[in-house]
Amino acid sequence: MRQAVHSSSTPTEPRITAFTSNHVVQLPDAARSTRDRIAVVGYGYWGSKHVRVLSSTPAVDVTIVDGQASRLAEAAAHYPSARLATTLDDVIDEVDAVVVATPPGTHAPIAIRALEAGRHVLVEKPLATSVEDAELLVETAARRGVQLMVGHTFEYNAAVWKLRELVRSGALGRILYVDTARLSLGRYQSDVNVIWDLAPHDISIVSYVLDEMPSRATVWAHSHISRQQADVAYLRFDFPRSQTRAYVHVSWLTPNKVRQVTVVGEKKMAVYDDMSDNERIRIYDIGVDVQDIDNPTEAHALPVTYRTGDIVSPYIPFQEPLLLQDQHFVECIRTGARPATPGERGLEVVRVLAATDRLADVADEEVVAGADVSTDPPGAPPVHASQAVNDHRISLSR
Ligand SMILES: NC(=O)c1ccc[n+]([C@@H]2O[C@H](COP(=O)([O-])OP(=O)(O)OC[C@H]3O[C@@H](n4cnc5c(N)ncnc54)[C@H](O)[C@@H]3O)[C@@H](O)[C@H]2O)c1
Repeated sequence: MRQAVHSSSTPTEPRITAFTSNHVVQLPDAARSTRDRIAVVGYGYWGSKHVRVLSSTPAVDVTIVDGQASRLAEAAAHYPSARLATTLDDVIDEVDAVVVATPPGTHAPIAIRALEAGRHVLVEKPLATSVEDAELLVETAARRGVQLMVGHTFEYNAAVWKLRELVRSGALGRILYVDTARLSLGRYQSDVNVIWDLAPHDISIVSYVLDEMPSRATVWAHSHISRQQADVAYLRFDFPRSQTRAYVHVSWLTPNKVRQVTVVGEKKMAVYDDMSDNERIRIYDIGVDVQDIDNPTEAHALPVTYRTGDIVSPYIPFQEPLLLQDQHFVECIRTGARPATPGERGLEVVRVLAATDRLADVADEEVVAGADVSTDPPGAPPVHASQAVNDHRISLSR
């Protein structure tokens, strides 16, 4: 039987070590007489993908729930035999598990409803939009004795496993810093800002790769289009045990699509480019060494020397991460195994996201000497404080 290999699942330990070779995780008993009935709530951009992968999973019956008639009509066209409903309440008694793929602000109430009814639940990222809600979800699942899993898709991604292996094996040397970019002309969300929408991926990837949660965050965020939600953000996360930092750039307002994670080590550097079809990981055998310049006649020399070598792109047997994630959820329902990304994992990422919300006063900005602070043409109306309020620099710790 081919199946996932798991390590222990304490909150700070990595939970998936590997999926065997390049195979789909096989469910333990394809010939089982009972079938699992799973409701996917939210048939939007991402929920429709859950429906696709769950529909292809043996012995799973999918029910599709969406509040919009037009979304249900589209679902019916693609899945004529699927059961459809406009609310979870209509079908809660006839399903065993629920996948929540609605906008983030609705995750907690829908998931609580399902957990209280004794159903296993997979919630899309972010698990919830507040620490209190995320804690309540974890506590409710434990009290009701059911599975709660969070959809941190990148923790089921073979390229991310490879990055982690490179870091853990020491192949890259000491990690100097990590840089991530998740940019595009993105879908503006109404209930969360760009940090809550996109950075869950980066926090999940970096903390999984470094095997550590950040202890401190610094944020620059700005809302360029609407006044409500920041659409571009730069974040810095400090990792005390690894003594390293991650710089995270997320944007809904960038012309080209970038999905990249760069791990810069003292020995080598690795780049994970999610937009690449066949070279998702590249390992650069390059580095910079500090040069001791003792001789005053060489004072003009560069203070560093460069090491250059091969660029290697290892073969990565790749399977759709969402497929692996959802099959893992089904496996956990059937076997009672603890999910690789349990509710607690979602909670720790929500804690980091919540930390980015706690704005501190701008206390340490420096005005550039000699700069003309007014860029307005003469006679332009003054900018009111309320219009400028989003241009904040946030410094915080959790
Ligand atoms: N893991 C990933 O890589 C990934 C990628 C994209 C989105 N997501 C997550 O998936 C979730 C959905 O995102 P999306 O882009 O598909 O959003 P979307 O707006 O495209 O779809 C949301 C759907 O939910 C429906 N809906 C909303 N409230 C409902 C309710 N109470 N009951 C039933 N239906 C309801 C809406 O009608 C809509 O069809 C979000 O949490 C997002 O963060 C995850």
